[in-house]
Amino acid sequence: MMQVKDIFSKRAKEIAYPKIREIFDRANKFENVISLGIGEPDFDTDPMIINKAFELVKEKKSTHYTPVPGYKELREAIVTKYEEENKLKINYEEVIVTHGAQYALTLAMLTLLNPKDEILIPDPYYPSYPSQVFLTGATSVFVPTFEKDGFKIKAKNLEKKITKRTKLLILNTPNNPTGAVLGKDDLKEISNIAIKNDLIVISDEAYETIVYDGKKHFCIASLPGMKERTITINSFSKRYAMTGWRIGYAVTTKEIIRNMMKISGYNLSCPCSVSQQAAIAALKSTSSIIRKMNLEYEERRNFIVAELNKIKGISCKKPEGAFYVFVNIKETGKSSEQIYNELLTKGKVVVIPGYAFGKQGEGYVRIAYTLPIDRLREAIKRIRKVVEKE
Ligand SMILES: Cc1ncc(COP(=O)(O)O)c(C=O)c1O
Repeated sequence: MMQVKDIFSKRAKEIAYPKIREIFDRANKFENVISLGIGEPDFDTDPMIINKAFELVKEKKSTHYTPVPGYKELREAIVTKYEEENKLKINYEEVIVTHGAQYALTLAMLTLLNPKDEILIPDPYYPSYPSQVFLTGATSVFVPTFEKDGFKIKAKNLEKKITKRTKLLILNTPNNPTGAVLGKDDLKEISNIAIKNDLIVISDEAYETIVYDGKKHFCIASLPGMKERTITINSFSKRYAMTGWRIGYAVTTKEIIRNMMKISGYNLSCPCSVSQQAAIAALKSTSSIIRKMNLEYEERRNFIVAELNKIKGISCKKPEGAFYVFVNIKETGKSSEQIYNELLTKGKVVVIPGYAFGKQGEGYVRIAYTLPIDRLREAIKRIRKVVEKE
């Protein structure tokens, strides 16, 4: 008889079950919980996009396999987006459409990393990165970022971690979990280091459109000398509240795209045809769809930051982008696990303990303001009660 304990690969045995999933599984056992844990827009996809998507599916008979890197029409719509929004001139052969940004990230790493390579990851980080690196056998090297710097990566901390084996640097702006946004000057400094040390940059820009106070996202690939060494990862998930459609993409050199296609063709075949039509509909839709959601996020951000800072023992800076607040809990004298635990069991509020985002995340909890203001108000009341022990 087969020994069940022997059926799993070393990879499957060693990869950790995602901490955030564990938290949601646990929170589901509680009633009347307010979840500030989920990193997903609470908005539904705009009906204009949904209707147009299905119209296109019928009209174009999009019920078949598509090319491995996606429909040419979608890749061309992405080219237009980059020209118009990011001042980045590309052509459609420099784009691959994938099953969400998540798969674009995995694909980029599978395409570029060998077991002896090192990849630099600013800490705190989106928890998928080290696990995706793990699947390639390469090594994650963490570069600490600090609240006093607005969680922006500093050149001297980055340079300290570069070795002969360093091949890739991952950037995430706007950032999950800290909300930090790297400006043009920050990115210029990083690009100089990348060029000097011959590093490839994976730039995860999934929250590109969610930037506040009239500021604009800046794309590192548009800096001199960076287009040929950057893989820009992007997504329809947050931009258009299209998480369930699972559609994203990578933009990089034709040569890297061709190699990504080799791997993607064998395990994804192609991205979903229906979702690709939805993505075309989205890119051709009015920009007011994005603007409306962003105004709401900005209002929520202003509300929650002001309210959290009124609670004794915790504090937070105003994030410049994404829809997260990274709340400093150090004055409570408790760990992020303890605060998460107390908020869940006593307050029925779900937050994510900072250590789930790396060593630098300890002393913080992540709050997602992906709920309407009246629910956020109730959550704040509950948090105050637990933290101030009213
Ligand atoms: C920083 C970051 N990158 C990538 C993703 C994955 O996005 P997608 O839904 O496009 O796979 C997420 C999702 O939460 C994210 O937070």
